[in-house]
Amino acid sequence: MSQNNGTLNLRVARIEAVTPEIKRFTLVSPTGAHLPAFSGGSHVVVLIANQQNTLRNPYSLLSSPYDTSSYQIAVRRVDSGRGGSVSLHDTVAEGDLIEVTPPVNLFPLIKQARLHLFIAGGVGITPVISQLEELRLSKVPFELHYAVRGEEHAQLGKELQATYGEQVHLYRKGIESRLQIGRVLADRPLGSHVYVCGPDSMIDATLACARDLGWTDSHVHFERFLEQSSGGEAFSFTLGRSGTTIEVSPDQTMLEAVEAAGYSMPYLCRGGACGHCETAVLELDGELLHSDDWLSDEDKAGRQKIMPCVSRAKCNRLVIDL
Ligand code: FES
Repeated sequence: MSQNNGTLNLRVARIEAVTPEIKRFTLVSPTGAHLPAFSGGSHVVVLIANQQNTLRNPYSLLSSPYDTSSYQIAVRRVDSGRGGSVSLHDTVAEGDLIEVTPPVNLFPLIKQARLHLFIAGGVGITPVISQLEELRLSKVPFELHYAVRGEEHAQLGKELQATYGEQVHLYRKGIESRLQIGRVLADRPLGSHVYVCGPDSMIDATLACARDLGWTDSHVHFERFLEQSSGGEAFSFTLGRSGTTIEVSPDQTMLEAVEAAGYSMPYLCRGGACGHCETAVLELDGELLHSDDWLSDEDKAGRQKIMPCVSRAKCNRLVIDL
């Protein structure tokens, strides 16, 4: 397995369509070596070269943490997105090499939990799959509540039902009744933790419901997806330490533009959730377009911080502390 700048070059061993929109990619080392270990809920970042830029999209690993002979990712095609998922769907074939970063886990299981509750929608099931695999050897009970738009989107859920039986509750639109988040969260024993991943509306509803039912924030965990971002208008900004001006194209993030210019900055999630890329704003003539879940409303109103992995600006001048 070759490595460039810490990334892994992996061979695409298999591509399967699991729903009309989602393809599952199985990745292996070209040399047959085992891949770096990971835990349930981890993701890798896939580097995808398009015409002008290299996009870096995070995808959850859905293979078993107990089997590092391969990784699996599931890619939902987003035609209105920045082009990364479309490129993976349309141009990558079995046998090709793709470059990914080693796994990072920002959505781990809580070891002290006495009950794990998972709520997922659509492609949001992907981090949960490896979390459930990790729980296979655990005696801690869990339940998965998984909502999909209909039978043709249910394959991953049916695979999980075949493996975990009644612990998996599938809500196919038009077949089962609707997922009632309030019922899932009500009257749970002390020490329960809930994990939610799916559309923003599902995450927001779960957070609100948990708050109303008196769950403590530290027992409620969520992960949002960058692929829902659709880019924005081009703009430019300046690095305060070197004076370098950097152009951000419509399909690029600020972080990707910094990297394309040969600079680096800290990151982990590339999705506005982990806080690693938080950067101070030194000068601003215009407005910041915040898209992250990290900064508080107060921080956003203060105009002195930005998360370059997801946020943009509409401005005449922006100088950041880098
Ligand atoms: S890299 Fe995680 S918030 Fe930006």
